[in-house]
This record gives sequence, C-alpha cells and structure tokens, in this order.
Amino acid sequence: MVDITVGILAPGAETREALRTLAEATGMASVQLEVPEYCVLRGDRPSRRFVEANPDVIVVDMHRPQAALQALQVLNWALPQTWLFVTSTISDPQLIIDAVRAGAREFLHMPSGDALGKALRRYAEERDRSKQDRVSSQVYCVTSAKGGSGTTSVAINLAAVLSQLPSTRVALIDLNSPIGDAAAYLSLKPQYTFADAVAAASRLDPVLLENFMTSANGIGVLPAPREFLPNSRPPVEAVGRILEVAANVFRYIVVDLPPSLDKEHFALVSEMSTSIVVVLTPDLAALWRTSRLLTFLEETGARDKVRLLVNRTRKSDEISDAEMEKALKQQIYWKLPNSHSASVASNNSGKPVASLNHSELARSYKEFTYRLTCTQMPDKRRGIFGLFSSGS
Ligand SMILES: Nc1ncnc2c1ncn2[C@@H]1O[C@H](COP(=O)(O)OP(=O)(O)OP(=O)(O)O)[C@@H](O)[C@H]1O
Ligand SMILES: [Mg+2]
Repeated sequence: MVDITVGILAPGAETREALRTLAEATGMASVQLEVPEYCVLRGDRPSRRFVEANPDVIVVDMHRPQAALQALQVLNWALPQTWLFVTSTISDPQLIIDAVRAGAREFLHMPSGDALGKALRRYAEERDRSKQDRVSSQVYCVTSAKGGSGTTSVAINLAAVLSQLPSTRVALIDLNSPIGDAAAYLSLKPQYTFADAVAAASRLDPVLLENFMTSANGIGVLPAPREFLPNSRPPVEAVGRILEVAANVFRYIVVDLPPSLDKEHFALVSEMSTSIVVVLTPDLAALWRTSRLLTFLEETGARDKVRLLVNRTRKSDEISDAEMEKALKQQIYWKLPNSHSASVASNNSGKPVASLNHSELARSYKEFTYRLTCTQMPDKRRGIFGLFSSGS
C-alpha cells in the first residue's frame, strides 16, 4: 500500500531520478518532493521546502559527504519525526558513524530497490508501533498565571497519585527555566536535568531519556536545569521530541509548565496534552491574570482542554465560585482546600501531600486525579482479601 511520503535530497539529477524510480517501485512510497541543494541552516530555502512538505522519510544522497552531514543535522532539528535515510556509493565506516550521529536512521549503500523497500518497511512498522503506544499515553500539563499559586505542588501530587495505580509508569517533567522546584520539593539531587535531554534531543530514545531522569516515589522525574540562565528557552522541537519519547515509555506524563514560555511552546505542549490544569488562588490578582492566560490559551486553540483548579480555598473566601466563573467565563473543575500543616509536612519530608495520606488535602488531590484522568479509585478495603470475596 502506498502511504509513506518521501522527499529526496540529491544534487545530481540522475541520482534523483534513480531514487524516485526505486522508491516508487517498492509500492509503499510516493515521492513528494525532490530538492537539489543541501540545507546549510535551519530556515534556509531547501530546509523550508522540506518543512512545508513534511514527508515521512527523506533520502539524502551523500554525494558531498560534509555538506550532506550538515544537511542531515539541519533536517533532524527541523523535522525530528521524519526518518532520514542516506545513500552513498562509498562504504566508509566513519561516514556511517557520522551520518548516524547527524540523525540518519538508515544507511543504504548503492541503494537497491530491495534495500530501500526493507528500510521503508522498518519505518512503517516503527510508526505503527509508536502510534499504538501513543494512544495509551496521556500528557497532563499544569500551569498558572501567577507565581506561588501551587502549580508545582499540583503537578507533583497528580504524578504521585497516578504512580500509585497498579502497573502504571509516570513521568514528571519540569519545564521551568531557570530553576524549577519539583526536584527540591521531592528532596532529589539529580545528576541530570531537562537541559541534558534538550542537548541530546536529536538522538534521544527511551533508554537515554530514562537515564536523564531521577526516580522519586515511583515517578520518573526530569528536573528543571540547575543553572540560572535567564531568558533561556529550550528549542520547541526539543521539547516536542522529549515529550514524544516519554510517551513511548510512560502511561502518564505530567508537565510543570511555566507561563513564561513562548506561545509556540504553549501551542505544542497543549496540542500534545489531554488536559491543561490551570491553577489559581481565590484572589483578585490571580483572577485578573488567569483571565488573560485563558484568552492566550484560546488563541493557541487549547481552551477546550482547560480544567480550572482553585487552590488554597477556605470557607471564608471573599470571592464566590459563581463570581470566579463569571469573571473567567469558565467552570471551576476542582477546588483544593488550604492546608498549611499538610503542605509543611510535605515540604519537610520531601514527599508529596498525597503520599502522606490522611489529610483533607491528600484526599482532595486523589479525588481530583481520578476525575481528571477518568481512573478508578482503588478500593483499599478489598486488598488481598478482596481477591477471595464474591464481588458485586
Ligand atoms: N493547598 C495548599 N495549602 C497550603 N499551602 C499550599 C497549598 N498548595 C501549595 N501550597 C504551598 O504554596 C507554596 C507555593 O506552591 P508551589 O511552589 O507549588 O507554587 P508554584 O505555582 O509552583 O510557584 P512558582 O510560581 O514559584 O513556581 C508552597 O510553599 C506550597 O507548599
Ligand atoms: Mg513552581
């Protein structure tokens, strides 16, 4: 079945023609575009043509090896999901290593239809596998318009409750930069941070990603960079790649998403998310800022994914739920109680409130998580004896 779209990058007209014929003869691929010039920089004319066409596979001819390696790097950054095949008449082991480092997935020496067909089949199999994996993985991002509202606390507790579900792997990714709090709240001393995953984004795979994570209470944590580097934003392609690789490993991915990121980042993360939890406290300043954040999320097309969570609520709050909903034109999804003692106990122990149990706040975190993720609250009473009960 012809459903793999292919782009060809080869300076020679004859090579382009030969590659087109070979690709189409496999019966699996249609050639979408042919480009004669190597890409040199992100955003130059040849790379823009590939980005616009966004083919599944690009075959790069290694006629001029150094220029081709540069082009591979550019394409790998610009189109991280596209598989890059290289073809060469030279079978030089060093060239193969360099090509793989630059992002090539297949090295086809003097390509024959058979070799190209096998490589395309491997692509199709991998694509189908990751599609199946992706369906079962869910991303929840937690954000807020005002500092100190409880974003990190909510992200950690959401991850903690999910990690208690049977056979469930959970990741917590802290996108704050510079300096995030997830690692500190969980008393972690991480060897690697999000910055390492960004630096390795082009060659990131599940093994490498897990290597960069630190395990805490059954959660794979990718902490924010330690260094104070103001105004440093990770390339949006790298963020996408990290989330995509995480989706192949973890059933749930919770993202601590700071509002300081660009619209581009927000658009990408919200596109990949099942829901966006917007945290606010019940005060006027938070209300005013949240209203602007919701307008911004509307512009990125993510408003329907918003779940409004009011944190630190008390009976004595001056602003009523109805007033908040009216001002924000958004229904309140959940309210978490204010609990100084539970939060202090959590901060002192390095354990999420929800793992410490017994407080009203812990119970509320659990109920919120089950509702948000449509999961079942485990019935503690059943326990091991439940296995022998008649059931109902
Ligand atoms: N429901 C709650 N009751 C009492 N204290 C809370 C509650 N939720 C969070 N806190 C406390 O509020 C403080 C700020 O919380 P947190 O760091 O999670 O907010 P944040 O929005 O991530 O802040 P920042 O903008 O600095 O990233 C912390 O000390 C936390 O323990
Ligand atoms: Mg925070």
